[in-house]
This record gives sequence, structure tokens and C-alpha cells, in this order.
Amino acid sequence: MIEKAYHKDLRSLHVGCEAPRAYYIPYADDASALRMERDASPFFLNLCDVWNFRFYDSFEDVGGDFPAEPLDKTMRVPYCWQAALGEGYDVPLYSNLKYPFPIDPPHVPQENPCGHYRRVVTLDADFLDGEVYINFEGVSACFYLYVNGVFAAYSQVSHCTSEADLTPYLHAGENTLDVLVVKWCDGSYLEDQDFFRLSGIFREVYLLRRAKGHLRDLTVTQEVFLDRDVASLILEADVPIDAECALIDADGAAVAESALSKGRGSLLLEHPILWNCERPYTYTLLIRAAGEVVPFSTALRRIDVEGAVLRLNGVKVKAYGVNRHDNHPDTGYALTVDEMRRDLVLLKRANVNCIRTSHYPNDPRFLDLAERMGFMLVDEADLETHGMGFEYRDTWDWMRWSKLSTDDEWEEAYVDRAARLYERDKNHGCVILWSLGNESGCGKNHRAMRAYIKRRDPRALVHYENAHLEFKAVPAGECFRDISDVESRMYASLEYTKEYLDGRPEKPFFLCEYVCSMTTGDVYAHVDLVDRYDALFGACIWEFSDHALRVRKPDGSEGFRYGGDFGDYPNDRTCCIDGLVFPDRSPRPGYFDMQQAYKPFDARIEGGKLYIYNRRFFTDLSDTSIRWTLTTDGRTKAEGTLPALAVPPRTEKAVPFRLPKLPDGENLLTLFLTTAEDTEWADAATQLGFCQIALTPYVFPTLKGGVGLPAWRREGRFLRIEAGDTVYRFDAAFGRIASICRGGTELLAAPTWIELWKAHGYNGYEAADERRSASMEHVRQQTYDCRVEETSDALIVRCAISLGGASVVPVLSGEVSFLFSADGSVTLRLEAAKRALAPKLARLAFAFRLKPPYTRMAYYGCGPHESYPDRHKACYLGRFETTVSENFVHYIRPFENGAHFGTRFAAVTDGEGRGLRFAGERPFLFNATHCPPNLLENTMHDDELTPEEDVFVYLDCGMDIAGSGGLFETLEPERRWDDETIDFAVRVE
Ligand code: GAL
Repeated sequence: MIEKAYHKDLRSLHVGCEAPRAYYIPYADDASALRMERDASPFFLNLCDVWNFRFYDSFEDVGGDFPAEPLDKTMRVPYCWQAALGEGYDVPLYSNLKYPFPIDPPHVPQENPCGHYRRVVTLDADFLDGEVYINFEGVSACFYLYVNGVFAAYSQVSHCTSEADLTPYLHAGENTLDVLVVKWCDGSYLEDQDFFRLSGIFREVYLLRRAKGHLRDLTVTQEVFLDRDVASLILEADVPIDAECALIDADGAAVAESALSKGRGSLLLEHPILWNCERPYTYTLLIRAAGEVVPFSTALRRIDVEGAVLRLNGVKVKAYGVNRHDNHPDTGYALTVDEMRRDLVLLKRANVNCIRTSHYPNDPRFLDLAERMGFMLVDEADLETHGMGFEYRDTWDWMRWSKLSTDDEWEEAYVDRAARLYERDKNHGCVILWSLGNESGCGKNHRAMRAYIKRRDPRALVHYENAHLEFKAVPAGECFRDISDVESRMYASLEYTKEYLDGRPEKPFFLCEYVCSMTTGDVYAHVDLVDRYDALFGACIWEFSDHALRVRKPDGSEGFRYGGDFGDYPNDRTCCIDGLVFPDRSPRPGYFDMQQAYKPFDARIEGGKLYIYNRRFFTDLSDTSIRWTLTTDGRTKAEGTLPALAVPPRTEKAVPFRLPKLPDGENLLTLFLTTAEDTEWADAATQLGFCQIALTPYVFPTLKGGVGLPAWRREGRFLRIEAGDTVYRFDAAFGRIASICRGGTELLAAPTWIELWKAHGYNGYEAADERRSASMEHVRQQTYDCRVEETSDALIVRCAISLGGASVVPVLSGEVSFLFSADGSVTLRLEAAKRALAPKLARLAFAFRLKPPYTRMAYYGCGPHESYPDRHKACYLGRFETTVSENFVHYIRPFENGAHFGTRFAAVTDGEGRGLRFAGERPFLFNATHCPPNLLENTMHDDELTPEEDVFVYLDCGMDIAGSGGLFETLEPERRWDDETIDFAVRVE
């Protein structure tokens, strides 16, 4: 039946398809057009539900004719067939940059799975009175369409719309649609993005009934004259039709009306309300023609680049951005409108104002939503050829990378992807930058893409990261700087960025990707630069969501699975679980870092006055309110609310506020900015960020002495120390506390120890390997001697020790001392030096293993989220109480989590006040968990963890964040931990 294998033919990109056009749905009247609920349109027939299905391991197996008998299986539309785990439809394959098939362009493998979808559509004669088009909004990777057994169309470009005119093929009554979806096509060489490689009809598919003489495509060119307070819209249809046009404001009133004559028309609007990301006012342009009303969401705005500064409506705006993929743990690439809206709500609450649609155009309805909710978009073409840089493993070559981008044969396919992006989304004012794709090297084919877009709109701003200054061009010496209107980078260091900006920047600088949200430690440092330099337009965090698929186990429990878990090869394991939210969109701690880095305000106190700075660009803060608390050593002493603040954008204002008299202790003023009223994306009182101002410092106790000598005696190799109702047994041979009994109950499940190991995060695997080479994962304490000193205020036991592992020399040596006092406390102190040759320590903690029921934890430190040396700014200092289980962060691939940076004191108790209390002489990192490092490390998935009943308490003097701290760590040196000489003490009560 397949007469020609178009998917193997680079010259046949689309067969039987319409030219790409602006996305819209026709409606029968103004009212329904304004609501834009497409399923309600009488001209729209949604074909999404369950289709009949047959799976083939290879295109070559499809054979002659499609089977006449019913297909034996069913498949959801939209969906990705690999998401039907265990059904035998191929497996999900996660590859970041490697092609999952041999690099042999344009040839695709013969092992090329196919899905044959079939659906019978019953159409009445009325529906056929006119023309009928089918629209596929996303099919991976390509498809052949047959209608009533006759070939109608072939198309590719997974994330773009394909439209075909089915009028000649349909008849009244039952019509059979057969769609053969093929997993790989020549176009797959252009879709080597970092995601699960999935297939199927993954976006909606529908029929449009169109009247004869209908509008086909419309280009709306807007010009906003800021000085004259006027906006004009030039309307150009691609066919010479006549139509009425009206611009409708948000209240439903027509504010400008005109006509299309022979396809041309214009509208003029005085005093337009301009769109921006903070006040996303949209009009709706209605085109009434041939009995249809076609709506276009219309965001009026002006974008200029002056020097190297990007201005929106004349205002120097900054992109506080994120990269987002369309992904869902159950359906792969398929998302409902509600799920897209949910993502945008989360992003709005995190103060994000810009989204890069990495790395392909999103569902067309996503643009309507984003425009209405206030996001600037970097709208990206479906194009990445990352794997072209390889010949064999580890033979990366920049020149080779650009092969397809420089090859004449591929030019048409490149330009097609620019055209499909641009034409579909061209009327959306929220699009700020048109991106030519991701990581495809750079070549003249990109220039041709740019030329297409510029021909259509000379003022469109084009983005392409690989067109950067240092790009090693092919042929050597050729320069591609003309290709991008912004100078874009991913993961540029702070130093590089500063250097560029301190020079004479010719173009706005843009970090299309920065940090990597396996951690978000250095978000703040980058955002500081965005705020500081006019020419730094903004930055998008990599990336919004973890990509992982959900498995449901026979016992009803669930878990997420990542690369390699499906027998997929090649795979990039955990690289896909690097989001700010988990696949189900519950926030990971990094989400709060993004929210805090992008918070809309700042605050400071000077000369007794409170100053509030508005970080927004267009609106004041009167839609928010500020709740403040004054805490002393974590206890709330005063609180209140500041009145609505009409602080103009990007300015600072002193606000009426009188600081209460400060008690002794650490006084902190914390201001929480919240929404004042319900909005589309948040209920009133939703927190958007906070500022904490330290007024007086914490007075740390000195842990040098005790309050009296406790009773003690030797019992063989043990010392028995008794103070009040606490009895310690100290093991003098091993230099550690063997038992703590309080009120007759044993608290410890094991003797105390010093922990040097942690379960490294995804980025720390290299550091972990180095540490393993020094056996750091199972060091043992060697105790050389143990001296007991009695003083008037304490009993001090001093042990000369080293810590070392098998087959290597010890990594650390020094003295650990235990100062027992008559008040029942013991102070542990380690004074030690690391061997110069030993790798950097991962951590250093006094560790305790407590028996149940000591499962509650409280701390005065950075919370309520987990916090680390590199990642604590989303937390504020306060007293927090939780349970050890609730404190745990369920990262999909378990690793170190849940610590609290800056802890002054902490407790692990049974809920009735019994347990252990800990205090430092300087801030320490506190954690309590049911999952010690080796358990985390050896468990591949969160749902497979079997937490211990005991509680492991870690009091860390430091933790190395290099490796756990991000792929591109740029932490200031003062926040790095010096592990060469250690002097660390904690009092345990
Ligand atoms: C970038 C790439 C992204 C993603 C990221 C992972 O190079 O553009 O798609 O793979 O790295 O850290």
C-alpha cells in the first residue's frame, strides 16, 4: 500500500499537505470565537479518543495492503505508544545527545517500529458541505495518511502542525482513516533533542469543516507608536478574500473595526493597552468571513533593541526564564490544556516571566495560555542535530557537528522547520525571540532559516545559540554572527558573562540555558548579573521538569523510571531527572530557589527606615501585600502586615514601618511577599518570595567548658558517666560513645561515629569515584590512645585518632575529645588535619544512630526546605519542626538530601520532649534521616528505598558542594568548605 517510502526521502518532506499557516479555529459566532474553546465549535471535530491500533516492529513488516480486518489492539490519541509500558510496543529510550541509531544520514534504520492507527469517522452530508481539512498538531516522527484506502498525505516535523485537505477523499457516512506512524524518518536526524525518544500521535488531531471561500492564512503585523499612543495592525491574508475584522477588548467591546478587501486590511487603535508579562492584556482580533468567525489572541506590544538593550514597550525588560519541555509521566509528550495551564500556574507563582520552548514548538494552545497569563516566549524550532558531532564515542568534533547545517541537501528541511514554527505562531505578541533550534552546530542552513523569518517579518528577533562569537565555523574562517540577533550562550561562566558585558556588547546577551537544576546553587549569582547589566537580557534555567515515566507496580504502588530502566540503549541514565519539579509537578527544592531568585521585591533597612525595592518592570506592588515577622532566636516577637505598596517598577521607596524594640538575641526581620487577591494563577496570600534582614547576630555558646564534673567510673574498657538522669558509656578502646541512657531508656542504636561519606548527586559521580579511590566510603576510626582528664567543670576524654579505609593510608588524623559535664551534656570536638594527598572530603559529620521512636526533628536553621552551603537562599532562618520522614526529599534517583544549613541548634525527639539536643559554637549542617548514605547510594529508585526504622543524625561541619553543586559550579570561594584543618564542636544534651 505504501507506494513510496517518503520517510526515507529527504526531498519529500510533506506530500499532500497544506502550506503552514497561523493556528486558529473557526467558530460560528463572535461569542464562541471569543471564548476560544475549540471543542465547542461546530466546525471542529475532535478525533481524539481511542483508535484501533496495530504495532509493527519494523516499517518493512507493514507489507502490501493495510489489513481489511479490524486492527486487534487499541491506542489512545494523543499518547506515545512506548508509554504503554509492557505492552510490547517498543520501549521508551532516553538519550541526551547521542543518536539512538547509526549516524548515516539521511538513512534511517530498517528496524523502524510503526504504529498503524485506524479510526472510522461518520460524517453527515452537512459536514461535507464545503471543505474538510485534517490537522495533526504533533506526530512523532512522521506519518502516512490514508482515507478510505486512498493515500492522502505524508508529513514530518514532530512538533509542528500538518494539515491536509480531505475534501476529495470523504463521503457522507462512514470514512476510514488509516494513519501509519513511523518512528524514524530522515527528519529524525534533526530531532536529536535531550528527551525520551517516543512515538505516536501525541497531540490532538481533528477535522475542520470550512466554508468555501474561507480565510486560510492571516499575517497580522502590528506597529505600536509609543509616542503617539497608537497601535496599527496590518492584516494580510494569503488569498484575496473579503472579510469583516474587529478588534475586541478584554471586556468584549469592539474597539476598532475594519474590513479585509481582497485579503488586505488594517486597523488603527488609539490609546491601546499594551501587553506585557506582568499585565498581560490581550485583545481578540475577529475575522468574519464565509460564515466563520476566526479569533486571534492579540497582544499589542513593541520590541526594540537599542544598542544592546532589549526593550518591551520602551521599557528595559529582563527575562527571568526557564526551559520547558512538553512531558508527562504517563503519556509521554501528550499534555492536556489543563496540564499545560498547571505548568504555567507553577511558573507564574515562581515569578518566571519567560519560557524557552526547549527544543521545539509547543502545543499551539500553549501560546494562547502563555500570552494570556503573561510569559515572554523564546519560541524554538524543532531542530537539534547534537549527535552529529560524533563519529565514534569520545570523538566529538565541532566541525562534524555542523555537517547537516552546512549541507545543501538539508537546507530545505531546515527552512521548513523555521517556516512551520514561524507561520503557526507569527501572530502571537508574546513571542519575543524566534529560535532556530538547539545545538546543531552552525551553518548556512541556519542563515537560510533566519532569512525566511526575516523575509516574513524584518523586525522579528532571531535567536540561535551556536551562532556565538567563538563558534568554530565551517569552512574555517566563516563567521556566523549575522545569524542571531542576540548573543546567546548556555552555561557561560559568570566571568565570561561579565567580560562580554564589560566589553562593548554589540547585541543583547542571553543565557538560553544556565545552571542545571540538578542543583540551583548559582542561580542567584547569574540573576544578579541580569539585574546589573543592561545588555544582559536574561537567562533561562535548565530545566522545568524531571522527565521520567511512571510505573505502576502490582501492589498498587508507583515509581518513576529514567534512562536505562527500560532496557533502552543507548541511554543517558539520570540526566533526564534534572528538573525544578518532579514529573508529577510537585516541587523539588530547586523550584523555590527559582522563585526566590526571581522574587518581585527586595528589602533593606537603613537609618531605621525600611526600604522596599520593586523588581518588576511594568507594574507596582499594589497587588501584593507584605507580612512581616520579627523573631528573636527564632521565636516570633512581633508581626504585622504592610499596606499595599505602590512602589513603582524598578524603584525603591521607604515605607512606613517602625521597628519594635529589639530583645537580646538574634533578631531577624522577615518579610513575606504574597498575592493580595485571588488571581488566575494563585489564591490570595500565596507566597511569592521573602526577604530576611539580620538585625542582631546570634550569640553562639562557647563549648570549651562544662558546668561541673559529672560522676564517673571505669568499667573495663568503658567509662560510665552519670549526670542527672543521663548515663553515658564511653568506649575507650574505640574512642566513641557506646550508649546514652536517659531515664533508663537507651537512645542509641549504635555507637557514635564520624561520617565522611554521602550519597553523591548526579553531578558528583566523578568526585565520588575519586573519593572511593581513597576508600572514603567506609573509613574506620583508629584510636591510638585515650586520655581521661578531670577538671573542676568537666570530664574530658581525649582520643588520638585517624580515619582511614582499606588499602590506603588514613585520610585524616587528629584528636577527638568528649567533654562530659554535670548538666548531662557532652561536647564532641574534632581537631584534625586532612592528608594533603587525600581527595577533598565529601563531608565531615558527627553521626548518631537513634532507636525509634525518636522520629521528630526540630531546628533553628535554614528551612523549611532542604538547604546546603550552595543552596540555602530559598530558605530563611527560623525554628522549624517536622518529622524525619517528612523532611526527606524523594529525588527519583536517591541521593543526599534534607539537610539544613546554618543550624544554630537542633533536636531529635520522640514528640514528648525526650531525645537529643544539639548546639554548635558556629553554624552547622543538620540532618536526620531514615536513609543513611549507603542505602541511598545503592537504591536506584526512590520507590525501592526501604528506610531504616532507626534515625541517623548528622551534624556536619561542612559538606563539599563541588560535584553536588551543579554541572557548572560557580560558587564564590568564601562559600566553599576548607577541609584541610578541622576544628569542629557540637554539644549534645
Ligand atoms: C544542554 C542542552 C539541553 C540539555 C542540557 C542538559 O546542552 O541544550 O537540551 O541537554 O544541556 O544539561
